[in-house]
This record gives sequence, C-alpha cells and structure tokens, in this order.
Amino acid sequence: MFTRAACITANRILNLKNVKQLVHQTAATMSGTGNSTLLTSNLWDSDPELFSLIQKEKHRQQAGLELIASENFTSLSVLQCLSSCLHNKYSEGLPGERYYGGNEVIDEIERLAQKRALEAYNLKPEEWGVNVQPYSGSPANLAVYTGMVEPHGRIMGLDLPDGGHLTHGFQTPVKKISASSMFFESMAYKVNPETGLIDYDQLATAAKLFRPKMIVAGISCYSRPLDYKRFREICDSVGAYLFSDMAHISGLVAAGVTPSPFEYSDVVMTTGHKSLRGPRAAVIFFRKGVRTVNAKGEKIMYDLETRINNAVFPGLQGGPHNNAIAALATAFKQVKSPEFVQYQKQVVANAKRLAAKLMEKGYTITTGGTDVHLVLVNLQGTGLSGSKAEKILEKVSIACNKNTVPGDKSALNPSGFRLGTPALTTRGLLESDFDKVVDYIDKAIKLGLEASKISGPKLVDFNRVLDTDATILKKMEALRNDIESFSKSFPMPGYPDY
Ligand SMILES: Cc1ncc(COP(=O)(O)O)c(C=O)c1O
Repeated sequence: MFTRAACITANRILNLKNVKQLVHQTAATMSGTGNSTLLTSNLWDSDPELFSLIQKEKHRQQAGLELIASENFTSLSVLQCLSSCLHNKYSEGLPGERYYGGNEVIDEIERLAQKRALEAYNLKPEEWGVNVQPYSGSPANLAVYTGMVEPHGRIMGLDLPDGGHLTHGFQTPVKKISASSMFFESMAYKVNPETGLIDYDQLATAAKLFRPKMIVAGISCYSRPLDYKRFREICDSVGAYLFSDMAHISGLVAAGVTPSPFEYSDVVMTTGHKSLRGPRAAVIFFRKGVRTVNAKGEKIMYDLETRINNAVFPGLQGGPHNNAIAALATAFKQVKSPEFVQYQKQVVANAKRLAAKLMEKGYTITTGGTDVHLVLVNLQGTGLSGSKAEKILEKVSIACNKNTVPGDKSALNPSGFRLGTPALTTRGLLESDFDKVVDYIDKAIKLGLEASKISGPKLVDFNRVLDTDATILKKMEALRNDIESFSKSFPMPGYPDY
C-alpha cells in the first residue's frame, strides 16, 4: 500500500510539471490566433463550475465504498491515453485501409492494441482475429448480431432478471426493450429458481424448438462459472454460433482465475472497463480458420473476420476512438504482469470473503456463495426491498445496485442487491478489510429496516423518512462518517484531484 501511495504522489508531481510545461509551450505557440485562452487554459481556470463538479465526483469516489460489480478504478496510464492527442484523429477503416490520410501512427497503435488483445488471452493470430474499435459493450454486441445473424434472425440469451444483460435480447411480455430484441428475434433462457444456477437442460430443449442462429453465454449478475462446453454442445445440436460475452469476467479470464470461453466459442466480446480495469471501450474476438468439416470431408472455413469488421464499420460506427484504443493497448499490456494476476486472485478472494461473512450474519446469498467477483444478496422475506437497500447504502456512502433475484416477479421492484469487489480491490482492500465492509453493510441494512418500520412499504415514504426523520438522519450521519474515514484511508489510482 505504501508503494502504491508513493507512486501516486510521484505521478502527481510528474503530471503537474508536464502540464505546466505544455501550457507554457502551447500558449506561446498560439499567441496571435486570437483564441489562445480558449485553447490553452486549464479546465479549472476556464470552467471552474464544471471542474468543481468533477472534483465533487472524485471526492465521492474516494470517500465512498464502491461496490458496483461492473465498475473499477482505472490506472493513470489508461487515463493519460484517454486525454491524449489521439483523441483528435479521424481514422475510419482498419490499419492500412483508412479513409483518411495521416494515419501511420494510428495504424501502429491499433495494430499494437490488436496484438496485445490476442496475447492477453494467449490466442494464436492464425486462429483468432480481433476488432478493437467498438465504442462500448452494447454497440459491440449489436455489431456481433448484425454481422453474424441476419435481421430478425434468432438469438437466445440469459434473461435479464436471471443475470443476463439487456443486450442479450431482453424484452418483457409486452415490450421489446433492447435493440437486440427489436431487430432480432430473441428467446430467453433461465436459471433454476431454487438453485439460482443456469438450467442448461431447459436451454437445450428450448434451443431445439426455437432453433437460434446464436446463443449468448454471458452474464451481468451470476456468481458461478459458465459451462462453456455445455453451451457448445447445445449450439452444435442446433447449428448455432456460440457468442461469449465475457464483459464482466474478462480480467479474471486473462489472469486464469476463472474458466476461459475461448476454447468453445465462435466469437467473444469484452468491455475494457469492468474487471479488466481498462478504458470504457470494447473488443470483439472472432474465430479464423476451419469452422467444420462436412460429410464429404471438405473444410468449411470461418468467414467472421469481414462480417464482424464490416458490422463495426461502416455498419454501425464511424471514426474509431483512438484514445480509447491506445488505452486498451496499455490495459492489455498490464494484464500480462504478475501484479495483475495477483490483483485478480485478490478480487475473487475478497468476493468469497464478502459472501461468507454476509452469510455468517444471516444474509441469503444466491447460489450459496461465489467463484467470481460478484455476490448477489437475496433480501426476500426480510422486509426490505432491493430498492430500499440500495437507497440506504447510498445514503451512507456505499455504492451498489438493486438487482432481481431468481424467482422475482417484477424487475421494477427487485428483491436483492448486487455487490462486486474489483473496484475496492484496486484500492488495496484485502479479506480482513472486507470483514469491515460487511459490518458497515449490515449496519446500514439494519438502519434501513428501522426506517422501513417507520415508513411502511412504499419507497417514496421510505425515502422521505431517510430525508427527514431526525433519529434516522443522525444514525446515518454517524455511520457515513465512519465509512468515509475508513474508505479514505485507502489509496486511489488516477489523477490526484480529479
Ligand atoms: C455482460 C455485459 N455485456 C455488455 C454490457 C454493455 O456494456 P456497456 O455498458 O459498455 O455498453 C454490460 C454492461 O454492464 C454487461 O454487463
């Protein structure tokens, strides 16, 4: 921890020195253009109103306990790429085939990002290709469906209330919610409501009836490894592609602490910003080479490279975000370091401790624990809803999100909340620190129950009690102060002040 704190201080000094030098040079060069102030002022001078909001958010991130399973605190190197000159460049097309001039360096950067993305998962370039241009996970998923499934072709994904993602075809009985259900025909598969585990038998039966072109193996809230082999068998039984969306677990996969989807998948997507700890961006890996051998012994080749690349651009996107691509490159470099592997092991160890300690205190954890970075707490029968839990936790500076639990009838009023360990593990918290985190969560939930007794069942009344009841307010303030001083004792990567 000392080393990390010292490192952050050193970076701060280095950073401020560089900024001053740069401002000086730029101001000198720009004088005479009539707009030097617009171009050379620091944000804190040119727009103090906005800068103070950014600082306020920085304070929130430092003072609170960040337990949102999809979030992380990225490195200084990633932030530096994101705010670099690469942001200025247009480079539609792929390296060596651009629609604009001046892309020699951008080509090198994108090729480096591609090479490192493959290396991060030990993939051979003759077997796998990668597109590093998707802006984020949702557009990347749409690019996969656009490239590989014809409009209104059929896809199957884990239902959102069961732990899948919106972009895996989510729709309600009355409304198509996601573009993945509007422009493609989707059918959900489910978890077993008793165990919380994916019901692969049900998926196999439904797939035979629905005959999807693609099955999505991917989760946003599921605490056990996916059985990719079983997914592959089901896909093969109906001739479907297997698309693994490893956005949540890609850091764990890179570190080898959870099973990898690559052996069995045709296409794999990840975002950069969750457990991978990189930039807000996404990449799509696609198979190359032989897909299958037909009855006549002829090799049928994959044709995914052009289909995926064309779906990303020009199908769905324009100019790539070169600053984000560079940030991906440096994040993929980091995943090969022993420190990153150790970090991911700690992410899982912390999640296991979080689940175990919560269970010790009497909480119900879906699937009875976790093997990954997240934990789903089931509040059914406790008298507190997921929304109320999220609210009281937020009020005492613990960030998490309400979540459906298996068997929930309404996604609007879920009975649980989801917790994840990647962000706090980045700040250096170990298992013993997570014992403290559990104590704080438990105190907050008990306070929530106290407030709920006063308010009755409605969320609006509950919120009013949190905002007005003097006793509750006093207790919340005391707990929040404890939590914030605990949280502030851990270092944070990035720029020191914003
Ligand atoms: C499994 C999964 N896929 C895709 C996405 C979408 O990513 P983004 O928010 O970058 O669009 C998410 C986001 O939470 C996710 O959990």
